Amino acid sequence: MNKLKGKVAIVTGGASGIGRATAVLFSGEGSTVVIADLKDDEGSRVAEEIGKNGGKAIFVHVDVSESDQVKQLVEKAVKEFGRLDVMFNNAGIEGPVKRTEDYPVDTFDKVISVNMKSVFYGIKHSVGEMRKAGGGSIINTASIAGLVGFTNMCAYTASKGGVIQLTKTAALEYASDRIRVNAIAPGVISTPMVERAAEADPEMMEGIKKAHPLGRMGTPDEIAKAALYLASEDSSFVTGTVLTVDGGYVAQ
Ligand SMILES: NC(=O)c1ccc[n+]([C@@H]2O[C@H](COP(=O)([O-])OP(=O)(O)OC[C@H]3O[C@@H](n4cnc5c(N)ncnc54)[C@H](O)[C@@H]3O)[C@@H](O)[C@H]2O)c1
Repeated sequence: MNKLKGKVAIVTGGASGIGRATAVLFSGEGSTVVIADLKDDEGSRVAEEIGKNGGKAIFVHVDVSESDQVKQLVEKAVKEFGRLDVMFNNAGIEGPVKRTEDYPVDTFDKVISVNMKSVFYGIKHSVGEMRKAGGGSIINTASIAGLVGFTNMCAYTASKGGVIQLTKTAALEYASDRIRVNAIAPGVISTPMVERAAEADPEMMEGIKKAHPLGRMGTPDEIAKAALYLASEDSSFVTGTVLTVDGGYVAQ
């Protein structure tokens, strides 16, 4: 119940899917939660819901692909709640489904900015506050698409591969500050993102679902529980790892 008692956590992409489930779970474990997202209505609703259930949460409008906005997000969390213990760099977009030769250059840049540069900004701007707090946990949402190739998703796979390398590098750089840095690599999880991708290419999505040895998609709660493990003292000796939560996808 109280695995994050007294902690302050930022959850980017907290208005929907995995981020939403994680914000709610973190709050249930005693954390104050700062929900950062582009979606004002949905994000505010998550904060309200947490408040109604006795937790403490605020929503902050942030575009994670803008360094200054991520910096201001961290400043806001610390101004409001006095410290920062957990940074969940989770916001992301899937981008279009197109072969590499047809993939628009500006869209490639956008996916890299939202999915990967955001993680750089999230690490860059949070480690100083975590050091002041005596340590912390940074968790980055990668993907199985950062570990193996997926056709027609060149920007997404590249961005998530980059997230894994940013994770490992920061883990080495900040271990002596007691800041642990880990990534989660979800398999296909039933969130609005996947519903959008399924609409774009139903056949590919059906194939991907079947390719999970456990024979189904994961749920946002199953990823939230992995994030809780990495955020809490349960993972006190874990840093620089990529935790696959993928129904066995990459074991094949
Ligand atoms: N759903 C899956 O199958 C799956 C699998 C592997 C990895 N992931 C990753 O999990 C993370 C969460 O995805 P999800 O499935 O919950 O999707 P989702 O679309 O339900 O949620 C993503 C959230 O990120 C927010 N967001 C997007 N761009 C943003 C920006 N520039 N600034 C701030 N917020 C922004 C969206 O508004 C949304 O609320 C993403 O990084 C995604 O790549 C998802």
